[in-house]
Amino acid sequence: MNPDFWHQRWAQNQIGFHEDEPNVYLRRFWREFAGEPPGRVLVPLCGKSLDLRWLAEQGWYVLGVELSQLAVEHFFQEWGRQPREQASAEFRCYSAEGIEILCGDFFHLEPVHLEGVTAVYDRAALVAMPQDLRESYAALLRSLLPEVPQMVVCIEYDQQAMSGPPFSVTPEQVGELYGEKFQIDVLNSSDVIEDNPRFKQRGLTYMQESVYRLRPRPD
Ligand SMILES: C[S@@+](CC[C@H](N)C(=O)[O-])C[C@H]1O[C@@H](n2cnc3c(N)ncnc32)[C@H](O)[C@@H]1O
Repeated sequence: MNPDFWHQRWAQNQIGFHEDEPNVYLRRFWREFAGEPPGRVLVPLCGKSLDLRWLAEQGWYVLGVELSQLAVEHFFQEWGRQPREQASAEFRCYSAEGIEILCGDFFHLEPVHLEGVTAVYDRAALVAMPQDLRESYAALLRSLLPEVPQMVVCIEYDQQAMSGPPFSVTPEQVGELYGEKFQIDVLNSSDVIEDNPRFKQRGLTYMQESVYRLRPRPD
């Protein structure tokens, strides 16, 4: 998507994707997925998600990446913390109490930003992008963090019935994006349409939400 699309969504507070509590699958599966802290978790396209705070509370160092400065400012304001701010060429870094957010374009990430990252948590990042960007996103993650496991939450629905974002991402597509380098397991999959009236109103009859665990294949 064009960055302006997201800046506008944040400016107009059209953030239906934002959850008022930490994600249910994160709470259910993170420990099984990631083991014991400490470690450093990359949360791409993090918005102002409460998942960042939940991860930090469990003892993880958290690295979010988010395009919208408004989202980042709201995150720290709503948390009641005054972040330290540091500017670099590509990102403005905001940090407080174990959480760092790089404000800027995910596609500008370089190895130097990701030192020490031991896990990736993707909720509503892969599905936020249309097909071409999704391929670039996954390719960049594969090249920057080839040895790092990912927990990925995706939705699948009839893409003819509704345009994205969020976009429908099928298990086959997850396999095409990551299957060569990662062993993929489904931790959970269920139809969540009844819990999402806003999508039902837009014409969807089902919305399958799946949680994937991606583990690097041994060479
Ligand atoms: C669907 S939202 C998901 C936010 C968050 N993961 C959550 O669960 O609430 C996608 C977010 O990605 C951000 N975004 C979109 N493109 C981006 C990019 N290229 N780099 C960094 N952030 C981006 C948007 O501003 C938006 O906050």
